[in-house]
Amino acid sequence: MPRFEKHIFICENKRPDNHPKGCCSDKGSVEVREYFKQRLKELGLGSKIRANSSGCLDACEFGVSAVVYPGQVWYGAVTKDDVDEIIQSHIINNVPVERLLIKDKRFI
Ligand code: FES
Repeated sequence: MPRFEKHIFICENKRPDNHPKGCCSDKGSVEVREYFKQRLKELGLGSKIRANSSGCLDACEFGVSAVVYPGQVWYGAVTKDDVDEIIQSHIINNVPVERLLIKDKRFI
């Protein structure tokens, strides 16, 4: 039996101000990850689902970027307001949140 059923990796990379690529940290990724952790714990899912901070996921232009395994499902422009929907739809019911998927062919 796997240690965790799903992993959610949220990019928390921080770049210097005015860097041309920008970074997920400046778009609120720390708050997003903390809220994922909070809600998973509140829902009693903390032992099954892991929300981890990650370095750059090479999806900077889509940030806040996150990827869920298994399945390698990529999300972009994730905000704190999207977290409950991702948990309910994807993490609990195995239905990815279509409107938040990164549509770029590199991530499909
Ligand atoms: S800075 Fe977040 S994906 Fe690169």
